[in-house]
Amino acid sequence: MSKKLCVIGNPISHSLSPKMHTYAMEKLGLSGSYEAIRLKPDITKEELKDFIFETGLTGLNVTVPFKELAFTAVTKLEGLAKDIGAVNTIVLKDKKLIGYNTDAPGFYECIKKYDFKSVLILGAGGSAKAISLILQKEGFRVVVANRSKAKLKDFKGVQTRLFSELDSKESYDLVINATSASLEGTLPLEEVVLKELLANAKLAFDLMYKDEKTPFCALASTLGVEEKDGKEMLIYQGALAFLKFFDLEERLLDKVVFYMREALLK
Ligand SMILES: NC(=O)c1ccc[n+]([C@@H]2O[C@H](COP(=O)([O-])OP(=O)(O)OC[C@H]3O[C@@H](n4cnc5c(N)ncnc54)[C@H](OP(=O)(O)O)[C@@H]3O)[C@@H](O)[C@H]2O)c1
Repeated sequence: MSKKLCVIGNPISHSLSPKMHTYAMEKLGLSGSYEAIRLKPDITKEELKDFIFETGLTGLNVTVPFKELAFTAVTKLEGLAKDIGAVNTIVLKDKKLIGYNTDAPGFYECIKKYDFKSVLILGAGGSAKAISLILQKEGFRVVVANRSKAKLKDFKGVQTRLFSELDSKESYDLVINATSASLEGTLPLEEVVLKELLANAKLAFDLMYKDEKTPFCALASTLGVEEKDGKEMLIYQGALAFLKFFDLEERLLDKVVFYMREALLK
């Protein structure tokens, strides 16, 4: 059966998801369409459900600012979505909306080959929460730091601190920038402290991606520390969603990732 898929967000014109999914469908000989749809930012849960059923969608990706709304709109939650409190993938099954979060496992796929034990997450928003939960589940020692206090209360079972409480002598295998600072073209925290933290790390990971290096990745690079930006995470979360849309076996993940990566190079 041909699939009718989309990504919803606001704004959405910048989304790379239509390119990745359409190309993977073509390469794998699967029938379907995938488009980017901008919804009004104040859409209600009922309006979102009506939109999904009335447009005859079989699956959708959800991006900013609708992930929390999607969480409340689905009939059933699978995997870590329940703990995370956000849904980025919805699949229709027997007129029911099944909600998944593929951001967290998508991130983990990017780092699972490394033998890391400790991680410092900078930022305490939605992405930091998703990543912190999967890394806790995988047995990492997780510390979450943020510039302000309020959001740190959402983190249970991990150490939390303010940026001002970070000690540059601390050492972590992995330092993740889960703040929106790169969107603003700045470093997430004072350069002297960040330099020390990165110098002790084995990998610096910025969830944000751009055509050029983000300030965070550029700093890691000048220190000779391996760095990654969020493009691989985007690809993996997309590929995991793709498997759900087409009900494909997990062993096909690498193949879908390969095609989605190729789509972004075109
Ligand atoms: N690659 C992917 O697939 C992927 C997926 C999801 C998200 N992302 C990226 O992840 C980043 C965070 O997204 P999110 O949804 O978690 O955002 P969010 O929920 O809005 O949280 C933003 C976080 O960044 C902090 N922050 C904002 N501006 C800052 C600055 N100038 N300096 C230091 N901290 C700052 C905020 O601190 P306060 O609490 O003090 O405001 C908060 O902790 C974004 O860059 C987004 O593009 C990438």
